[in-house]
Amino acid sequence: MSPSSGYGVDQPAKLPSSSGGSGIDSADRPLAPLVRAESISKLFDVSAPWLNRVLERRPRQLLSAVDGVSFDIHRGETLALVGESGCGKSTVARLLVGLYPASQGRIVFDGQDLATMSSGEGTRLRRRLQMIFQDPYASLNPRWKVADIVAEPIRVHRLLTNPEQTQARVVELLEQVGLAGADAQKYPHQFSGGQRQRISIARALASQPEFLVCDEPTSALDVSVQAQVLNLMRELQRQHGLTYLFISHNLAVVHHVSDRVGVMYLGRIVELASKHELFARPRHPYTRMLLDAIPDISMTGKSRVPVAGEVPNPLNPPNGCSFHPRCPFAMR
Ligand SMILES: Nc1ncnc2c1ncn2[C@@H]1O[C@H](COP(=O)(O)OP(=O)(O)OP(=O)(O)O)[C@@H](O)[C@H]1O
Ligand SMILES: [Mg+2]
Repeated sequence: MSPSSGYGVDQPAKLPSSSGGSGIDSADRPLAPLVRAESISKLFDVSAPWLNRVLERRPRQLLSAVDGVSFDIHRGETLALVGESGCGKSTVARLLVGLYPASQGRIVFDGQDLATMSSGEGTRLRRRLQMIFQDPYASLNPRWKVADIVAEPIRVHRLLTNPEQTQARVVELLEQVGLAGADAQKYPHQFSGGQRQRISIARALASQPEFLVCDEPTSALDVSVQAQVLNLMRELQRQHGLTYLFISHNLAVVHHVSDRVGVMYLGRIVELASKHELFARPRHPYTRMLLDAIPDISMTGKSRVPVAGEVPNPLNPPNGCSFHPRCPFAMR
C-alpha cells in the first residue's frame, strides 16, 4: 500500500529516495546505535493545587504521556514516529533532547547515558543534538534579527569567537537552506512560514549537530512548501550524514522521509518496522486503520474505512490493551 497522490507532498516536487542508515558496518557487523531509548516513560503531575486536593479530598493525579517506549536510531537513519494527537510524540522528542527528564528508563546517546552526565559533558553533548519545532512562528524570537538567531548556538558553544567569521558562517548557513545572506539583517516577521522553518533549520545546523529531532516540522506549512522543506532536509541529511527522529501525523510525509517507522498509541509504540514492511504488511490493527485513512486518487470509488472512535482519555486509559475499545478484532 502506498500513500500516493492526492495527499500532497509527493506531487509538487520529486523527493530524493531514502538514503538510510542500515546499522551494519562494512564487515556486516551491527553498529552501536547513535541514539537508544530504553523503556522510557514520562509521568506528568496534573493534580489540582494542594489546598483544593486537601479540601475536596482528591488524590494526586498522574498522566502517563509516554509509557515504556524503546527504540534505536542508527547513524544516518531516519526513524519516524506517527500517531494521533496526544499520543506522546512531542513528549518523546523532548525527552530525547533533554528538555524533560525521564520518569523511568534511560536515553543513551553515542554510548553515554543522558541522565548521568556531568554538566560539562551535557553542554558538549547538547551541541550534537538539536530540535526543530512544529511552529516556526513561535520558535523564533521575534525581537532578534535572523543573524543573531542563527549565530546564537555558535556563540553558546564557542564554535567561533571572531564576529566576522561568525557573520560569514551565518551567511553560509542561510545559503545552505536556500535563503540569501542579506536575509540575516531581517526579523522573523518579514518571512513566510516556509522561510521561517528554513531559518529554524539553519539555526539547528549552526552547532554542527549529528542528530536532529524534528517535531512535525512541516505541518504548519502548505503542501508545496512542505515538499520543498522535506527535500531540503533530505539533502542536508545526505550532505552532513545527519540522523533524524522525524515526528509527523501525516503518513504520506512519513513514507517519503523515513527508513523505519514507529506507530504510537496512547504513550506506547504499538508497531515498529521498516517503512517498506509497515506500508506493505501492517500488523497492528491501529496501523491498518491509519493506512486505510490515507486518500488515494488511483482508488476512486473504493470505500475507505474511516478512523473510527476517539483516542481515550490518557488520565483514564482503558484496562488491558488500550486500543481494545476501537479494535475491529476485539471480542466484547
Ligand atoms: N507539560 C505537560 N503537562 C501535563 N501534561 C502534558 C504536558 N505535555 C504533554 N502533556 C500530555 O501528554 C500527552 C501527550 O502529549 P504530546 O504533546 O506528547 O502529544 P503529541 O503526540 O505530540 O500530540 P500532537 O500530535 O497534538 O502534537 C497529552 O495527553 C498531553 O495532554
Ligand atoms: Mg506534538
